[in-house]
Amino acid sequence: MTPTKQQLNDWDKHYVWHAFTQMACYEPLIIESAEGCELIDTEGRRLIDGVSSMWCNVHGHRHPAIDSAVKEQLGKVAHVTNLGCSNSTTIELAKRLADLTPGDLDHVFFCSDGASALEVAIKLAFQYWHQCENPKPQKTSYIGFEDAYHGDTIGTISVGGVDRFNAVFKPLMFPVHRLPIPDRRTPNFATSCQHHLQTLEETLAKHHESIAAVVIEPLVLGAAGMIMQPEGYLRGVRELTRKYNVLMIADEVAVGMGRTGTMFGCQQEDVVPDILCLGKGLTGGYLPMSAAIASTEIWNAYLGDYAEAKQLCHGHTFGGNPLSAAAAMATLDVFEQEDTLAKLPDKIECIAQHLSRLNEHPHVGNVRQYGMIAAIELVKDRQTGEHLPWTERHGNQVCQYALDHGLWIRPLGDVIVIMPPLAISIEQIDTMCQVIAQAIDYVTLNRASLQ
Ligand SMILES: Cc1ncc(COP(=O)(O)O)c(C=O)c1O
Repeated sequence: MTPTKQQLNDWDKHYVWHAFTQMACYEPLIIESAEGCELIDTEGRRLIDGVSSMWCNVHGHRHPAIDSAVKEQLGKVAHVTNLGCSNSTTIELAKRLADLTPGDLDHVFFCSDGASALEVAIKLAFQYWHQCENPKPQKTSYIGFEDAYHGDTIGTISVGGVDRFNAVFKPLMFPVHRLPIPDRRTPNFATSCQHHLQTLEETLAKHHESIAAVVIEPLVLGAAGMIMQPEGYLRGVRELTRKYNVLMIADEVAVGMGRTGTMFGCQQEDVVPDILCLGKGLTGGYLPMSAAIASTEIWNAYLGDYAEAKQLCHGHTFGGNPLSAAAAMATLDVFEQEDTLAKLPDKIECIAQHLSRLNEHPHVGNVRQYGMIAAIELVKDRQTGEHLPWTERHGNQVCQYALDHGLWIRPLGDVIVIMPPLAISIEQIDTMCQVIAQAIDYVTLNRASLQ
């Protein structure tokens, strides 16, 4: 028997343990279907998907080309292992990713989630130093960044730096060198960029003999609240890692797949990392698939006679899943067919115009944008920058108002995030930003007049 709406509601609250959610105060939002950049809930409400279903939808929901690619693949095979076995769709995808990614990032290790791609990258870098041409097995440590987020597994929280998520797990985490990262919000960010590169250089100069890799979210620290790095920092990190013979792992789980305006975030600064991680948008946000894509230098270090035991002993049951691969192939096709990247500058500009208006609001402390990623930071006092009391959850209140007015967004504390599918229309951007402006007014200024 089909469950009633009430049953679904009750079961969702009782049986489903939602991620990053205090279940004691969880109120269900149950999506029944979706169309383009809109979600449709069980009440029949249409909601603009303002955060692309957790930063991953690219071409919209139920895109005909991606739908039919997945269906066609279903007609062949849904899953085969990639442990000693392959399938044609996944092979084609690997070749295509190798061709698309910059430099000699040619070797694709498929996993299921962003965090698992990062885990692979961390281990790939570690083992590389044991068996590369000039081995340095003492390279066992990492440089990570304060407030960086790479997932929620033990390895990724170790290299990550979001204390408020991880404090309780400290005893499980391995130690890393954790450095601050420059923030475009600082008044003199060019100087700050240089200063932070100098700090990185000092750490590398002192410890490079024991450091395997630097792990970085290129351009934007996502989960930290969309903290954006000044131009030149990523390039500077790449130069220093080369200078000190340390690998660079670029976590493009959030910024990859067109999000910054180029297919990969690293291309914004002409950077080629040693390992590039993709997730989220890789399948257009359709199915779980991620990848750690390694350079030829790293790949070569893993080749040898069977008896040398140089292979990477790591795998995920669904790594390289053919259905996900079909969705990813179709996603790349749609990038070409719809000229998705060429259409972004107008959308980016439209968001920028809305942001500049929002920036005049007395309770907006900062607005920031990198391509199709935007953030609006709510504060108590714009002049002093004083924060709002976090327990009052103003960010959440803004999103609740938006939900009641046709927009689904999810905040990061008091930071309102705008990260729609790349396929969003200018009209939808206008609607979305107008609702957000109203919501901020409602929550921070005059609730009564807007009701
Ligand atoms: C930069 C970055 N890396 C890794 C992850 C983890 O990805 P997943 O949630 O798919 O494990 C995320 C998720 O938000 C992310 O933003």
